[in-house]
Amino acid sequence: MTVRRILTIDNAADLAVLKQVSTPVEGGVTDDLRLLMDDMLETMYAAPGIGLAAVQVGEAKQIIVMDLGDREGADEGDDEGAARDRRNPRFFINPEIVWASEDLASYEEGCLSVPEIYDDVERPAQVKIRYLNYAGDAVEEDAGGLYAVCIQHEMDHLKGVLFIDHLSRLKRERAIKSVKKAARAA
Ligand code: NI
Repeated sequence: MTVRRILTIDNAADLAVLKQVSTPVEGGVTDDLRLLMDDMLETMYAAPGIGLAAVQVGEAKQIIVMDLGDREGADEGDDEGAARDRRNPRFFINPEIVWASEDLASYEEGCLSVPEIYDDVERPAQVKIRYLNYAGDAVEEDAGGLYAVCIQHEMDHLKGVLFIDHLSRLKRERAIKSVKKAARAA
């Protein structure tokens, strides 16, 4: 498994890729795709992060990896380190949201492509999703809590949308400026 470079918004070429709309996977889940998903998972763990879309490593395909440990229903302030030790990797190919609740929930999101920026985003509190898993089986599942937040955030990536696109223009511009400044300083 290889840790790949994660594209970030301070780089114009990276940003152009991150803005791409990812294409659905055709022909089922192949070993080549599993290799990509293994790399994505390794890349996500190394970052570390809890979710990663393929476009974030430069492959504009509808693939997401995620590992929430056992923090799914966890409250803020729970021991994150301990939760991280319990790995629970998830893989999503061609995910779709088939239902979203009317009630919304707000969560302070971050993104490996927008380093060190965190802000509240409001999204449907519960969703029902449909996708192919690592084995290529079709799965339908209800997601709530952090799982709902994370899958919606990652599915935004497949449409070329970043979480900062949900913020006010002022906050978004401030975030972009701050990421660029940090990248220059590094
Ligand atoms: Ni992200």
